[in-house]
Amino acid sequence: MLLRDVSINRLVDKKKGTINPIIFSDPDIYQQELELIFARMWLFVGHESQIPNPGDFVRSRMGEEQVIVTRGRDQQVYVLLNSCAHRGNMVCRYDQGNALAFQCSFHGWTYNSTGALVNLPPGSEEAYAPDLRKEEWGLLRARVELFNGTIWATWDHSAPSLVDYFGGSEIYMVPPLLDAEGEDSGTEVLGTVMRWRVGMNWKLPMPDNDTTHFRITHRSALAVRRQYQDDGPRPPRPRQNYHVWFPEGHTTTMSLEDVGDEVLLGNDDPVVNEYLRERYETRKKRLGKLAYRMELPHIFPNMGAVGRCVRVLHPQGPTETEMWSWFLVDKNAPAEIKAAFARGEELARGPGGMIQKDDMENWAIQTQYSKYHMTRTRLTFNAQLGLSQASLHGPTSFGLPGMFDSSPTDANIRGFYYRWADVMAAKDWGELRIDNPAR
Ligand code: FES
Ligand SMILES: [Fe+2]
Repeated sequence: MLLRDVSINRLVDKKKGTINPIIFSDPDIYQQELELIFARMWLFVGHESQIPNPGDFVRSRMGEEQVIVTRGRDQQVYVLLNSCAHRGNMVCRYDQGNALAFQCSFHGWTYNSTGALVNLPPGSEEAYAPDLRKEEWGLLRARVELFNGTIWATWDHSAPSLVDYFGGSEIYMVPPLLDAEGEDSGTEVLGTVMRWRVGMNWKLPMPDNDTTHFRITHRSALAVRRQYQDDGPRPPRPRQNYHVWFPEGHTTTMSLEDVGDEVLLGNDDPVVNEYLRERYETRKKRLGKLAYRMELPHIFPNMGAVGRCVRVLHPQGPTETEMWSWFLVDKNAPAEIKAAFARGEELARGPGGMIQKDDMENWAIQTQYSKYHMTRTRLTFNAQLGLSQASLHGPTSFGLPGMFDSSPTDANIRGFYYRWADVMAAKDWGELRIDNPAR
């Protein structure tokens, strides 16, 4: 069954601001997402610091499937489907390493870092002749673009350029990808990628930057934090808080109050705070009013973020998701600072972290309930908070990209799901062009 146009528009009702629960568990909708979303959109696959040298590779995912992210002899980054062109066996079985060739363990077809088929088992090349033309039997190669150290790929060669795809949200991506002094290429991935599975639909944590759930879902974590922070000064809570969304489905939050380095220094660790404080003046000279930002935006469809941690949601079935986290740190920071960053991230944002596990429980229950008869047939999910309030056009109102809605609001939730509906209904990229850009 193909759900297009009218059906999809009824699942996400833009007039009412409601979402039909079936989009979180229906197998037909999920199958269409694999083609219409994961085979067409730009997807985050890794960071350049993971593969600094020719031959370095890491495994990653695009949608359900594995890809090999590798650097060739020519220093270029290639993203290849980890599925043999002969008969689909897994070509690379290691999470990371260095290899300029990948030999399939089934019949021995061998590919180089660009994905080209370079070698067939002894004797078979002559036996295949004249039917097999090696240049037609390479690994499937995605289109790749880099952005400040991050690596992105898409299977759709008619997709717009990566920066066009970001639609202005890249302005908010830059500050957390620079180091504390605002130095270009100053960040690296700390350790290896953290990965875990949750029995939930991949969309539920998108977006996770709505401020409405924080004080309820994370009440216990906040209570613990308050206990051991009581003696110290608390950073002021910014008043002019906005949710910022893009017609392309990307979202973030933003304070327009000049709260200076107090927001940047939101880390609980005094050693980290001292490190950031010492470098803040230099950073401010380079980045101006966005210097305080250490929060990556969410990028449609599946790159979420918590602070400087990239969190990607890889679908593994309609009700199963693999969460991957890349923790970014300053490349040149002393080891004790990197360790302190790591401790903070694990305590809050790892799979057993105080913040992350609160969220995961809600998302798993939502997924389960979206399968139950009464929920899926009688309920619609509500995203009406602030629906009748007009969004402000960031470029003309504040000189900043994005559409601004003052908090509390469900504007970011609507921004994501309205784009989801548009992408699911569009035949091709020609229908997905944005008429009213927010950049
Ligand atoms: S499936 Fe890979 S060589 Fe046959
Ligand atoms: Fe949360």
